[in-house]
Amino acid sequence: MRKLVDSTALVTGASSGIGRAIAIELARRGSGVVLVARRKERLETLADEVRTRFGVHAEVEVVDLSRPEAPEELVRRLEAADIQVDILVNNAGFGIHRAFLETPWERQRAMLSVNVVALTELTRLLVPPMVARGTGKVMNVASIGAYLPVPGYAVYASAKAYVRNFTEALDAELSGTGVRAIAISPGSVRTEFLEHAELELNRVGDLLTISAERCASIAVTRMLGGRRTLVPGYLNALGMWLLRFVPRRQQTFFGWLAMGATASPAPSHAESRQ
Ligand SMILES: NC(=O)c1ccc[n+]([C@@H]2O[C@H](COP(=O)([O-])OP(=O)(O)OC[C@H]3O[C@@H](n4cnc5c(N)ncnc54)[C@H](OP(=O)(O)O)[C@@H]3O)[C@@H](O)[C@H]2O)c1
Repeated sequence: MRKLVDSTALVTGASSGIGRAIAIELARRGSGVVLVARRKERLETLADEVRTRFGVHAEVEVVDLSRPEAPEELVRRLEAADIQVDILVNNAGFGIHRAFLETPWERQRAMLSVNVVALTELTRLLVPPMVARGTGKVMNVASIGAYLPVPGYAVYASAKAYVRNFTEALDAELSGTGVRAIAISPGSVRTEFLEHAELELNRVGDLLTISAERCASIAVTRMLGGRRTLVPGYLNALGMWLLRFVPRRQQTFFGWLAMGATASPAPSHAESRQ
C-alpha cells in the first residue's frame, strides 16, 4: 500500500457514501484530511474517527456548495488557517432521476452548481498552488452516466460528462507540472445517493452494485498509480468499453439500461407522484 505522509487531502461530500470512504482510505494511508459538506455532526464524528484510528490531523468545514460564493469563502478560510491542500477530491454531488421537463429548475440549478460549478471553481482555486510546488493530485468523481446520454437523468448524466471530459483535458494540460488529475466514473455504489434521488435498487441493480469502501480503495490506488480515468468494477469497465461499438442513435437505450434499469422509484416517492 502506498503511504501518504505530510500531505493534506480536501474531500467534498465527506459526510456520507463515497466521499466518507475516500476520506477514510486517504487517512488510512497517512494523509491529513479536510472534510467538507453541510452536515456538521457527521463530519465531526468522522474527524474524531480518523484522528483516533490513524493519528492524522482532521479539520471540518461546513459548506453548502450550491451557494455561488462557497468555493471562494472555503479557500479563504483554508488560507487563513494556513492549510495547504495537496490532494483535492471533488466528490460532493447528487442526482435527480426524473424527466427533464418535470423537474423544478431550482433543483436542476442546485445540482449543476454542486456537481459542476463548485467542482470547477475549487479546481481553479486549489490547483495553481500545487503547480507552483510541482506536486499535487485532483480526483473528480463523475459517473458511468458520463459515457452516454441517459433518459431520466438528462441533466445529471450530462453534468458528469462535463466532469469526465474536463478532468481528462485538465490532466493533459497539466503534463510536466508534477500535478495529475483523475476522473472516477462509478456505476452503482451503495450510498445515500439513491435515497436522495428517491429510488430503490431492484434485483439487476443489486447485482451490479459495489460498496463505497471498494469504490474508494480502487479510486485511491489508481489515483496514486497515475491513471487519468477510471471506471471502478470489472463489469462496469467492460460495459463502458463495449459502448464504443454501439451506434450513437442507440446509446440512449443503453443509457437507460445502465442507469434507469437498475433502480425504481422508492414506494413513498411513487405514491407522492400519483
Ligand atoms: N452512489 C452511486 O451509485 C454513484 C454512482 C456514480 C457516481 N456517484 C457520484 O458520487 C458522488 C458521491 O455520491 P454518493 O453516492 O456518495 O452519495 P451520498 O451518500 O448522497 O453523498 C453525497 C455527498 O455530497 C454532499 N453534498 C450534497 N449536496 C451538497 C451541497 N450542496 N454542499 C456540500 N456538500 C453536498 C453530501 O453532504 P451533505 O448532505 O452533508 O451536504 C454527501 O456528503 C456524487 O458526485 C455522485 O454523483 C454516485
